[in-house]
Amino acid sequence: MTKISKICCIGAGYVGGPTMSVIAKKCRDIQVTVVDLNEARIAAWNDPDVNNIPVYEPGLGAVVAEARGRNLFFSTEVDKAIDEAEMIFISVNTPTKTYGAGKGQAADLKWIELCARQIARVAKTDKIVVEKSTLPVRTASAIKDILAHTGSGCKFQILSNPEFLAEGTAIEDLNAPDRVLIGGDSTPEGQEAIQALVDIYANWVPRERILTTNIWSSELSKLVANAYLAQRVSSINSISELCEATEADVNEVARAIGADSRIGSKFLKASVGFGGSCFQKDILNLVYIARSYGLEEVADYWEQVILINDHQKRRFAHQIIKSSYNTVSGKKIAFLGWAFKKDTNDTRESAAIYVADHLLFEQAKITVYDPKVPESQVYSDLNYLGSRTSDENRLGVAVVDDPYEACKGAHAIAILTEWDEFKEYDWQRIYDNMNKPANVFDGRNLLDVAKLKEIGFQVKAIGKAC
Ligand code: NAD
Ligand code: UGA
Repeated sequence: MTKISKICCIGAGYVGGPTMSVIAKKCRDIQVTVVDLNEARIAAWNDPDVNNIPVYEPGLGAVVAEARGRNLFFSTEVDKAIDEAEMIFISVNTPTKTYGAGKGQAADLKWIELCARQIARVAKTDKIVVEKSTLPVRTASAIKDILAHTGSGCKFQILSNPEFLAEGTAIEDLNAPDRVLIGGDSTPEGQEAIQALVDIYANWVPRERILTTNIWSSELSKLVANAYLAQRVSSINSISELCEATEADVNEVARAIGADSRIGSKFLKASVGFGGSCFQKDILNLVYIARSYGLEEVADYWEQVILINDHQKRRFAHQIIKSSYNTVSGKKIAFLGWAFKKDTNDTRESAAIYVADHLLFEQAKITVYDPKVPESQVYSDLNYLGSRTSDENRLGVAVVDDPYEACKGAHAIAILTEWDEFKEYDWQRIYDNMNKPANVFDGRNLLDVAKLKEIGFQVKAIGKAC
């Protein structure tokens, strides 16, 4: 039986960093080395002050502080780590393609292929290669193919072990996962590789929560899990619009339907729209895969989840414009929150970016405050959209590090992220310093509407009639 003593993880991002930190914490006898091409990112992971590690995630700093230097290492020496490890996790980014065939839908697998080629070039001993990144179903066959042509005589087993953590709760999710999924070949060698990975997780995850499947089921399950979760958000968001038209309250509807154990209460929070690096890209990928098999109806069905999400973001921006006497030109709009959800510094695909884009087309002047997102990131997100030049983005958007400053003189406040601290603000002070009528657009159903109205605000919350 293969007993793993050294692990290498390629990719020190939001998944590689936290997952490997937790493995190192739970398995002191395994040396875990996380490698990345990005030198600045590795330097940040090695920063003696764990407050400066590149991923903000509650509880992560403490885990890194405990394991780093003991059996957890962050390095740019990719070849060395590959060479030494018996098991290699691939945890690199797999974004939506921005060019060529499948542009805007298919996953861009160039970094995955580079990893496979690098492993093929460097490996001198047999290895277990684990797909940790989220991948289109059947990617393992391409990795297998690349590794089969090394000429070195080394044998490789490919496993799929998708990650289900959510940002903001990554450490909780990793410490006590609902399940761990491991897919592999049904051959004796494949089963032995599966067992080696099961043994690692079994150090802290109850055995009945470790599911083993064939490799294609595992790859596909990850895409499907994200599609189902995102579908729930789009479903309740579609109902939020109907609530606004009918004076039903979306929170009450969510509570009422969620109490049915067949539906369940989680993932029923209406919002300005889901963001994050994975939901949209993984659904687009699922849609692309379905179409590539000629399954048009299947593709259309899942695509609707994205269309409702786009609609919800646009709708939120239009409400701000409509309530501002149909013009926001030259008006200051304060954004509280820029991250795609609370407790993360990640802004990828955040709804805030798209709401800002819509408002900038109407010549609004936006001021952003987010407790964890730096100014440079806000501009980089807007520049990435390519709607206007970086100078124009700087003219239209200011980023401040004080929420009261952000709201001072504003005509409207938009809540884009559900940061807990927003609830604790002195809303009377904010009101006193705003332009009147003072509007609040709560895209997260976060604030106490009655209290705000008492102060004098005009409040519009997602899924509630005015
Ligand atoms: P990320 O962009 O934060 O990190 C990826 C890292 O890989 C980057 O630091 C990049 O420099 C590095 N990299 C790319 N190619 C490399 C190479 N050839 N050699 C060395 N390093 C390389 O991405 P992420 O959010 O950690 O996501 C990684 C994968 O995990 C994606 O497939 C994603 O879909 C999946 N996933 C993400 C989450 C999440 O919450 N972010 C959750 C579950 C699954
Ligand atoms: C999601 C999944 O929850 C993870 O299981 C998965 O591993 C991950 O994607 C991934 O593959 O990357 P994440 O995107 O980090 O995790 O965060 P979520 O908590 O799922 O939130 C996604 C978006 O949906 C956020 O913008 C959030 O605000 C929004 N959301 C979530 C709602 O609007 N309403 C809800 O009820 C729940």
